[in-house]
Amino acid sequence: MTAIAIKNAVVTGGGHGIGRALCRRLAADGVGVVVADIEGDAAETVAEEIGGIARQLDVSDEKAIISLVDDTESDVGPIDLFVSNAGVGFGDGESGAISTEGGMNPIDDRWSISWKVNVMAQVYAARAVIPKMIERGGGHIINVASAAGLLSQIGDSAYSATKHASVGFTEALAIDYGDAGIKVSVVCPQAVATRLIGMEDDSGATEGGFNGNAIDGIMQAGEVADIIIDQALEGRFMILTHPQVTNYMQRKSGDYDRWVGGMRKFRRSLSSGN
Ligand SMILES: NC(=O)c1ccc[n+]([C@@H]2O[C@H](COP(=O)([O-])OP(=O)(O)OC[C@H]3O[C@@H](n4cnc5c(N)ncnc54)[C@H](O)[C@@H]3O)[C@@H](O)[C@H]2O)c1
Repeated sequence: MTAIAIKNAVVTGGGHGIGRALCRRLAADGVGVVVADIEGDAAETVAEEIGGIARQLDVSDEKAIISLVDDTESDVGPIDLFVSNAGVGFGDGESGAISTEGGMNPIDDRWSISWKVNVMAQVYAARAVIPKMIERGGGHIINVASAAGLLSQIGDSAYSATKHASVGFTEALAIDYGDAGIKVSVVCPQAVATRLIGMEDDSGATEGGFNGNAIDGIMQAGEVADIIIDQALEGRFMILTHPQVTNYMQRKSGDYDRWVGGMRKFRRSLSSGN
């Protein structure tokens, strides 16, 4: 299926990884794409490659999101699809979820940046663009969360918590605005070979990532982008790019305590390297 009914799309975090692959796929379908990223150079490179428009912004700044939406609507045209894809993860550090060390940031920043980028940026985008879409009678919102928002990310409690919040917020959008013609999808991938998990863009890597741990069913950004766009166009709310996540979800909801026990065992195996 192609995204031909969509004329204009905005993709945040479009400078690298999954966002970049989404920009490429949409452009190949004939969609005009605004590539928005905190890394202006990366956004420029992708925009040049696909014939789109680059926009440098920090998605955690609500005013910047409002300007992105207003400027796109006035300079390019109505936004038919807004993809809130930008996301961050820092890791907990040695002592786990209550660590005061954090990964790449001091503890407060680690939590507050994860909260702002992984959750509030999606809230800001939705409240900037959905009223305009409702006025026009419809539109699409795709929020990229993670399988960590349904299951858990061992070693990153802030990532797990904020991705759960992203899934919860996106559910609320689907429930509140579906009747007004707004199509809403949430994307919950497991591992994808991108910089987020310590790999280079388009490296084609199928193993490795943080700590060199084996990664269950790692996929490439291009494959994931195709599934996301195809399933969003079919009108799916929950987009599970990795088939095994459905099975894990069923196990978790079938017996939550058993699932937590299994995750503890998995965590032990990761720290012992077996
Ligand atoms: N890679 C995975 O294994 C994986 C799995 C599940 C979910 N995800 C999610 O997919 C999304 C894309 O991640 P990715 O794997 O492509 O990572 P990535 O690091 O390759 O790309 C993320 C992009 O977001 C941009 N970005 C970060 N903070 C920003 C900010 N404040 N404002 C604007 N742009 C910002 C980065 O510059 C980068 O271009 C994220 O939401 C991530 O949590 C990734």
